[in-house]
Amino acid sequence: MTAFSNGAELQSALRRHDYIADDEFATVVHLATALERPLLLEGPAGVGKTELAKALATVGGRRLIRLQCYEGLDDSRALYEWDYAKQLLHVQMLRDRIGELLGQYPDIADASRFLAEQDFGLYSEAFLSVRPLLDAVLSPEPVVLLVDEVDRTEESMEALLLEVLAERQVTIPEVGTFTARSMPWVILTSNDTRELSPALKRRCLHYHVGYPTLEREREIVTARAPEVSSGTAGQVVELARTLRDLPLRKSPSISEVIDAARAASVMENGAPESNPVVDMRDVLLSTLLKYTGDVDLVKNRLDGAAPVPAPAAASMPAERVTVASNPANTTTAVFRGRGGGGRDAAGSGARR
Ligand SMILES: Nc1ncnc2c1ncn2[C@@H]1O[C@H](COP(=O)(O)OP(=O)(O)OP(=O)(O)O)[C@@H](O)[C@H]1O
Ligand SMILES: [Mg+2]
Repeated sequence: MTAFSNGAELQSALRRHDYIADDEFATVVHLATALERPLLLEGPAGVGKTELAKALATVGGRRLIRLQCYEGLDDSRALYEWDYAKQLLHVQMLRDRIGELLGQYPDIADASRFLAEQDFGLYSEAFLSVRPLLDAVLSPEPVVLLVDEVDRTEESMEALLLEVLAERQVTIPEVGTFTARSMPWVILTSNDTRELSPALKRRCLHYHVGYPTLEREREIVTARAPEVSSGTAGQVVELARTLRDLPLRKSPSISEVIDAARAASVMENGAPESNPVVDMRDVLLSTLLKYTGDVDLVKNRLDGAAPVPAPAAASMPAERVTVASNPANTTTAVFRGRGGGGRDAAGSGARR
């Protein structure tokens, strides 16, 4: 198990495992581990929230325990369940002995009372099917507990999480209270689909993970797809950043940028004459964008700035920057292979 003395040390360790965090993010993660406070990461899809927990487990030499949240998640999936099959088997194995003892009670009511008074050890730790939260509490070795997409559960689940996060303990009525055997590092992620309760937020350090700066996104692509040339990586990143300024239904995430860079690299390295009709731009757009409406909107903008279709125009937030309002049409430049330079709009910030 590794502890880190500061954010910079943790940042370098994460980088060695291909996770690129900026200074502020690395510092907040380090603080969460040093203060043993849960860390709540909020932000758009695909910006590296889940990946941070995985990378942290790797660099910390800890086992990763993941609780994937969804609507309808309940105690039996999050905490524990009694293992009925094992309990039944246990009783069957004791059947002959129990039969002998019951022989002393010819009266059925007496036999029943005798049985009710016996403790067959069925409700003990040995018969628990341990789920992620209890697993983290029972683990003798410290772990990283990832509570992923916590905003997908109902608020009622938060009460359960609060007991684990605040008290580091789990209460099982039949057995008692288990207190954490080691201190887990806890990472919670949320896509902000609903407001989390103030009580949950209060117990966590809170950080908003945004899209990275141009420089950092290039680094990420190079780390995750080393086969892609730095020129191609830079152009795809620049294109994605331009698209993020458009009023799209879904902006390209880092994972989509990595996919697009890989696609661009494969196309560049393949024989171009074998498929001359395929337009590199269209391929990249289909990798970066997930909705036909978004692809149409971008193509309209790029192919001579045709008017935006009415529904998209109506939903366009007034403050969003458009390609047309950029000083130069950087997207077109990217397609011509002249992309470069860029803005530095880090979309992240720490909050407590
Ligand atoms: N900072 C980063 N360093 C290295 N790779 C990154 C980074 N951020 C994102 N990635 C890449 O993007 C992919 C998607 O990240 P991840 O699954 O963590 O996103 P997420 O924020 O959890 O998204 P969602 O909210 O959709 O679950 C990762 O598998 C990784 O390849
Ligand atoms: Mg995730």
